[in-house]
Amino acid sequence: MKLNIALFAALGLALAAPVFAQKTGEAPGGKYAGEAEQIFRTSFRADNPSYWMKRLEQDETMKTCQQYRDNPPRPIGQRLEKLNAATIRYPVDGKLVGDWKEGEKLAAVGSGGHIGFIQPDPAGRLRGGNCYACHQLAKKEVAYGTIGPSLRHFGKIRGNSDDIVKYAYDKIYNSNAFTACTNMPRFGLHSWLAPEQITHIVAFLVDPESPVNKD
Ligand code: HEC
Repeated sequence: MKLNIALFAALGLALAAPVFAQKTGEAPGGKYAGEAEQIFRTSFRADNPSYWMKRLEQDETMKTCQQYRDNPPRPIGQRLEKLNAATIRYPVDGKLVGDWKEGEKLAAVGSGGHIGFIQPDPAGRLRGGNCYACHQLAKKEVAYGTIGPSLRHFGKIRGNSDDIVKYAYDKIYNSNAFTACTNMPRFGLHSWLAPEQITHIVAFLVDPESPVNKD
């Protein structure tokens, strides 16, 4: 992930900035917004599963965050957070803490969700949360990103009260319920992770036996 970010940054500097600065003097998204949108859309095959094609349409949260460059005035941000909070669904049995060992696997898996002209995912491929792309969690994984705060010792520091458990579940289900224009994906809202899978990741965060809380 660090490499990817470095690569994006390098590409951004090498390509995007000079093009916009020298040719147009406009901010990215100005004159070329239509062209960029078209390239983006045509990079998805129409025979992709419909849930992918639906994702090409921005919902109100995305549109508003784009409009305000992820920094909307507070009342607008609060409205978006409310909208997102209203989407959160819970497992039928109401149990929000699952099995940390399952959660450990799900948090680490970063494959799945191929798009564009690449072959679709093989049937049965496990989709994970790719949490390490942005967070430090268990000590043994050293290749973690730092876009999000470290979650190391999450349960050790905050405990595993009902409030903390619900917060962790809600945050993973729909992160924008807390930070209107966050970078963290909305795993539950987009059916990327099922409610039961989210409970396993919650256990990975809060269970005292989980490697997140050891050492
Ligand atoms: C693309 C980056 C990204 C990914 C992937 C990601 N997160 Fe986050 N996460 C963030 C950011 C950024 C924050 C900081 C708060 C915010 O902006 O919402 C955050 C905040 C959090 C918080 C709240 C931390 C606190 O101190 O209260 C939790 C819990 C969390 N993430 C869990 C997870 C889990 C579990 C996964 C994997 C299922 C995950 N995140 C995947 C970016 C990410």
